[in-house]
Amino acid sequence: MKTEKIENEKQAKEVWEYFFEKPKKNYNKYIYEMVEYPEHLMYDNEKADSYKGRWTDFFGNNNDIFLEIGCGSGNFTVGNAEKYKDRNYIALELRFKRLVLGARKSKKRNIKNILFIRKRGETILDFIGENEISGIYINFPDPWEGEEHKRVISKELFEKLNVILKKDGKLYFKTDHQKYYEDVIELVSEIDGYEVVYHTDDLHNTEKAVENIKTEFEQMFLSKHNMNIKYVEIVKKI
Ligand SMILES: C[S@@+](CC[C@H](N)C(=O)[O-])C[C@H]1O[C@@H](n2cnc3c(N)ncnc32)[C@H](O)[C@@H]1O
Repeated sequence: MKTEKIENEKQAKEVWEYFFEKPKKNYNKYIYEMVEYPEHLMYDNEKADSYKGRWTDFFGNNNDIFLEIGCGSGNFTVGNAEKYKDRNYIALELRFKRLVLGARKSKKRNIKNILFIRKRGETILDFIGENEISGIYINFPDPWEGEEHKRVISKELFEKLNVILKKDGKLYFKTDHQKYYEDVIELVSEIDGYEVVYHTDDLHNTEKAVENIKTEFEQMFLSKHNMNIKYVEIVKKI
């Protein structure tokens, strides 16, 4: 038992050192768990980058690949992967706990078409090849009030989508934030090759609500704050 504990600590330390320069006295318990889901969670950046342009090899099929940026604890992507077994899902998240919770759920439910990766959305060109993605989801990203240049949905993101997103592929965006919603619609009108094909400031009062899979933040905004959810679909026309 004691040896096992030491082994675990050694492993956690190695994972930690992989990400951070400074050692810690006590390691986040989710760091220990990161290594337990090799089929569902990839934290090794070099390994993820090595699949660029050949994610079909990872999933073992040629099915369409969908990407989520900032997936939280994974409810949305897990729900999609279970519903659409003929699609593959890659979900990016930075927080260890959220990644582990997503991978834990996926393993428990024996989901084969999902992978969580600890990567920043800004780095997609490092590990996704040309036209490799059929659709991309960004749900409730930080609106960065007052520091809007830090937002994930930006001109730079569309420049990356020019490379990785297939023609006719869509970017799906949900938010609780009225200004972010309006700003994205305006941004798309200024970008060549993309068009807003659907938008609503009250998703749950539209016909799309039936198909909608709720995220953790969406659930919270709806139940605790009784807020309208804003939703935008943007198509890549080139
Ligand atoms: C407000 S939460 C929303 C989580 C989830 N999408 C939901 O709707 O429940 C935003 C998430 O994005 C992650 N995140 C923030 N910046 C990111 C980035 N640059 N790349 C990937 N994930 C990011 C955060 O760690 C956080 O879990």
